[in-house]
Amino acid sequence: MIKVLTYGTFDLLHIGHINLLRRAKELGDFLIVGLSTDVFNDEKKKVSYHSFENRKIILESIRYVDKVIPEQNWEQKIEDVINNDIDIFVMGDDWKEHFDFLKDYCEVIYLPRTIGISTSKIKIDLNGVENG
Ligand code: CTP
Repeated sequence: MIKVLTYGTFDLLHIGHINLLRRAKELGDFLIVGLSTDVFNDEKKKVSYHSFENRKIILESIRYVDKVIPEQNWEQKIEDVINNDIDIFVMGDDWKEHFDFLKDYCEVIYLPRTIGISTSKIKIDLNGVENG
């Protein structure tokens, strides 16, 4: 069984997230998502619309996602890879080279981002718009 791990906030779920999760799952048999907690997002100066609990429920409802674990800090990744017997670590290529230190523990793959969409863009586009 090939186990894949990825991380993110996955707020205001969009097609870029789904493409990433689908392609991550296609690399193996079991996909684990490390989901940023609200406290960790605070530390990153990131504000999510949906709470951690709700983002977790939404992610768990996606057919490509087998398990969701909390991402509480930057340092936990090596431990997560070891404790979950991870074969492949996957992130979007906006993180290219950033997590290459994990190559000592598993395969590291950066997938191309879906062009033209992000949670930040959705927030900007909808800001102040009530009915369309
Ligand atoms: N992702 C992607 N394509 C996009 C947006 C995100 O492949 N268009 C990937 C990211 O590279 C990451 C994962 O989805 O591996 C989760 O990203 P996240 O930061 O939660 O989503 P963003 O939409 O990038 O959020 P933000 O704009 O707040 O940074």
